[in-house]
Amino acid sequence: MARVHNFNAGPAALPLEVLEEAQKELIDFKGSGMSIMENSHRGKEYDAVHLEAVENVRKILKLSDDYSVLFVQGGASLQFAMVPMNLLGPGQTADYIDSGAWANKALKEAKLIGKVNVAANTGKEIPTRVPRLDELSLTPGAAYVHLTSNETIAGSQWKTFPRTEAPLVADMSSDIMSRPFDASQFGLIYAGAQKNLGPSGVALVVIRKDLAARVPATVPTMLKYGTYIEENSLYNTPPTFSIYILALVTRWILKIGPETLYRRNVEKAAKIYSILDAGQFYRGTAIKECRSDMNITFRLPSEALEEQFVKEASKQGMKGLKGHRSVGGIRASIYNAFPVEGVDALVAFMKEFEAKNN
Ligand SMILES: Cc1ncc(COP(=O)(O)O)c(C=O)c1O
Repeated sequence: MARVHNFNAGPAALPLEVLEEAQKELIDFKGSGMSIMENSHRGKEYDAVHLEAVENVRKILKLSDDYSVLFVQGGASLQFAMVPMNLLGPGQTADYIDSGAWANKALKEAKLIGKVNVAANTGKEIPTRVPRLDELSLTPGAAYVHLTSNETIAGSQWKTFPRTEAPLVADMSSDIMSRPFDASQFGLIYAGAQKNLGPSGVALVVIRKDLAARVPATVPTMLKYGTYIEENSLYNTPPTFSIYILALVTRWILKIGPETLYRRNVEKAAKIYSILDAGQFYRGTAIKECRSDMNITFRLPSEALEEQFVKEASKQGMKGLKGHRSVGGIRASIYNAFPVEGVDALVAFMKEFEAKNN
């Protein structure tokens, strides 16, 4: 069996242990004589999986009873719409912090629903960065403040979150559960699962329950957070297989320990950043203070060299290093499940490539 070093930005590498467990249980899930995919979403087998997924999330994020854990389809992109549909009432303003392509998509969607104030805009700056806390111009009495904790394309990441009067809403798609943070600081957190949590097909939503009550009466049932809270995300058939894998991934996170994973993530990123900092050949695209531990973005002296870099790395079993099509360059996505050995392989390759081509 040949597993490559998978630097994809999402869907992304899953822990091998999780894949092996899923493989073991695929045909006959816990003696039920069928796979989890074939089990009823109202049966006792799936019920246990669903419960474990919710409980694992609660434990990892240290959530109080004020919060509900929801599983919603439509990816993080549907959350761009559901957040304002549920939380941005008529006459209210939502503050959006534009730090890059994903934050910008979220704010564009919110503009379709209601009034938006752009509280800061670093979205088009190069080198890329997230705004400083003192740059935010927040609206008194705002419905909420929205930020993107990690810009997957730009490679920038909030290191400290603002303390806001209005509920803080965060798209944590590309760094959820990669580092400790105080969840009680947030009104709502959402994340597409396919980077740090599991396969695509499900988005995790963590919501402070009182916020769900704000929803206007005209919002359809499947787009209301309240429906998911009341029905434990089982109003309709949920993406059972995706939630099953999410349960296994979060079990794996708990087994290693979120703090250990965090330290490992910082060390992994530091190894690659140390190469970027050591010379002039590789140029990081985000400013140092806010560069991401998940998506490491950099340029080489020419696009031709970047193409060659991606090609040669691929031949050596390192896949998915091409930067996002909108920005080019190189991007190494090294989420929780990405192994240290893969980082070491990339670092060795980078040194060798520089020595040959500098
Ligand atoms: C930060 C961020 N937000 C949102 C999305 C969109 O997620 P989805 O494809 O689940 O809609 C992505 C996808 O890469 C992302 O990185």
